[in-house]
Amino acid sequence: MNLKLTGIALFALITYTIDAQKVEVKKTFKEAAAQTNVMLQGIPDARDGKPELITPRTLDNGKLKLVSSRDWTSGFFAGQLWFLYEYTKDNYWKAKADSFTTLLNKEKLNAGTHDMGFKMYCSYGTGYRLTKDEQYKQVIIQSAKTLTKRFNKTIGSIKSWDFTVSNWQFPVIIDNMMNLELLFAATRFTGDSSYYRIAVTHANTTLKNHFRSDNSSYHVVDYDTVTGQVKSKQTAQGYADGSAWARGQAWGLYGYTMCYRETKDKRYLEQAERIASFIMDHPNQPADAVPYWDYNDPTIPNTSRDASAAAVTASALYELSGYSKNKRTYIAFADKVLTSLTRDYRSPIGDNKGFLLLHSTGHRPAKSEIDVPIIYADYYYLEALLRSRGK
Ligand code: GLY
Repeated sequence: MNLKLTGIALFALITYTIDAQKVEVKKTFKEAAAQTNVMLQGIPDARDGKPELITPRTLDNGKLKLVSSRDWTSGFFAGQLWFLYEYTKDNYWKAKADSFTTLLNKEKLNAGTHDMGFKMYCSYGTGYRLTKDEQYKQVIIQSAKTLTKRFNKTIGSIKSWDFTVSNWQFPVIIDNMMNLELLFAATRFTGDSSYYRIAVTHANTTLKNHFRSDNSSYHVVDYDTVTGQVKSKQTAQGYADGSAWARGQAWGLYGYTMCYRETKDKRYLEQAERIASFIMDHPNQPADAVPYWDYNDPTIPNTSRDASAAAVTASALYELSGYSKNKRTYIAFADKVLTSLTRDYRSPIGDNKGFLLLHSTGHRPAKSEIDVPIIYADYYYLEALLRSRGK
């Protein structure tokens, strides 16, 4: 027997077994529940006399930072509470989830943001999926109606930001793909196909203009409002205009996977598969599959990771595995991400004001939220854990 070859085979088997390891969902949810209670206890004090601050976003010099309902991250904590209810079926979590969800109600009329889906679908949408509460449904419909005010027919997109940098006229960011789920839901609830049409038009315009030949995406595409043509392709939160900002790639993957679920348009499935390959095969993808904040930061490995990008990617890949012939590859990669996050990126219970995951990067070029816990990492981590069941 060739001892060397046997050794290699054994090593490969052990590596495969470790890679294929499943996170223990029951234990991890129990710990997440304990940690979320720590967060709930800290919220009243963190308000610091400002009642408009309703929901956690991150840690700021070790202090729990709350935001108002206007902030793009305001729906994630409510969504996290709904996931705890989904897993435990415990009405304690349902009551908490309902109270943090309904605090967002007035955002249904806020047309000043494209982040409506993040805010209202992660909260009310998840709540509706679990409860079928008619009042939640009405809020979702109104939120979708408000979001459609940002759609421009000439361009074929929903406008992302109202503020301008470099004389932007009509900036559209890849993140905006995530807001389309709200529109698909509104068509299902009302039978009015206009929401669906806006969603697919936006997805098609993004497909045409946001992606490079290596299937990575630009962060920001700015359009001319008169001609509808692309004016520039840039970044706001990435390393450079031509770089691949890690969370942006994850939003694209999740967005096109969701668009395939809603439409069964093969072009969306193929795009999601191409983005998945870009992420999984990237030479700068670390061994633990938790990416650096931008795949092209030249200071890799001496720069920050983004656990939130990893969590969004894992959640998207579990869903994509249900539609693609690459099922096993996607599940194996998502399992690897979840194993790493659970083993090496979690906060000890009782620490970090109740956040679940450490080591996310919010906006590195603005020197903001670097290597900190961020609420959307926790939301997509729990969603990925739920989706990992039975895979
Ligand atoms: N949508 C903003 C972000 O991903 O940071």
